Amino acid sequence: MVKKVLVTGVAGFIGSNLAERLITDGYAVVGIDNLSYGIMEQVPKEVQFYNVDIRSKDMYPFFQGVDAVFHLAAKNCLPDCQTDPVETMDINVMGTVNVFEAAKRAGVSKMMYAQSSVLEEGEKRLKGFYAISKVAGQWIDEGYKDAFGLTTVALRYFNVYGPRQDYRRASSPIISKFIIKMLKGEPPLLFVDDDKNKRDFVYIDDINDFHIQCLTDERVNNKLFRLGSGKNTSINELFNTIKKVTGSSIEPLVKERPNDPDFQPVESVADISDAATIDWIPKTSLKTGIAATVEYLKSEKLKGNIQ
Ligand SMILES: NC(=O)c1ccc[n+]([C@@H]2O[C@H](COP(=O)([O-])OP(=O)(O)OC[C@H]3O[C@@H](n4cnc5c(N)ncnc54)[C@H](O)[C@@H]3O)[C@@H](O)[C@H]2O)c1
Repeated sequence: MVKKVLVTGVAGFIGSNLAERLITDGYAVVGIDNLSYGIMEQVPKEVQFYNVDIRSKDMYPFFQGVDAVFHLAAKNCLPDCQTDPVETMDINVMGTVNVFEAAKRAGVSKMMYAQSSVLEEGEKRLKGFYAISKVAGQWIDEGYKDAFGLTTVALRYFNVYGPRQDYRRASSPIISKFIIKMLKGEPPLLFVDDDKNKRDFVYIDDINDFHIQCLTDERVNNKLFRLGSGKNTSINELFNTIKKVTGSSIEPLVKERPNDPDFQPVESVADISDAATIDWIPKTSLKTGIAATVEYLKSEKLKGNIQ
């Protein structure tokens, strides 16, 4: 029976929300993060926290007595990954193999790890250094399953959103970006073809339902799951939903899309049929999820964290 769970990237968006849910559900949580992007205040106080880099062997002792691991730590801000391919591979490839090794040495019974929908968004995106590092993660998983019989679950997240998503980074996630603009009374930027730019947005609580299920359900073992809402939403629809939820009357600034291959519209939607076979169904509507995210960002603004 799983009692103690280790989360890498615990000070980040998904990691901190997961840690909170694990504690609510009665699990003991060990958390690892080097706070390169994460925020210490987001880590629940019940977490046994270690400020350590996933590339360091110093973290091996922290895996002792752990039943299951969620490996979420990564360099994942895409422009930062493109600027520094060496550090991206160092963290996302060397760091990932080090986490798998630590889990294997400690005899951890199950290892969940983060993949990304970027692996399904066409050839151009697959050539980005973030995507390359995530492909390597998949092969590390295959190697550890084959050589050491480690039980794993690959979590292919689509656009996860919700409170604590990292709005501080230079290229902040689109939902946070739009909400912050509207809270400040400024018009968000849309492109003329944003009705064709469609993403699958899935709320963090739904993702956490799946995470918790991974701990007890053997049907997930050694499988890959695409985790999205199963529906896609155009950026125009997203803007209109945020406008409605915030009660804003602001109109967007609409521009021609730059002729840059990195910024072309995509149509991405998660095929959640595998997750549905184990009875996981995302429940949160976009409107409800956005309302919770708006409340979070309003409170960040009140604290003076958003200028
Ligand atoms: N949020 C999404 O929509 C999404 C989509 C696809 C994939 N993912 C993947 O899910 C995982 C979690 O994403 P997130 O949105 O919570 O990201 P995040 O940036 O909020 O959290 C990542 C955490 O990892 C930590 N970290 C980075 N390098 C580290 C290192 N060398 N050692 C220790 N800690 C380190 C950071 O400080 C941060 O707290 C990542 O692997 C990401 O690639 C997320």
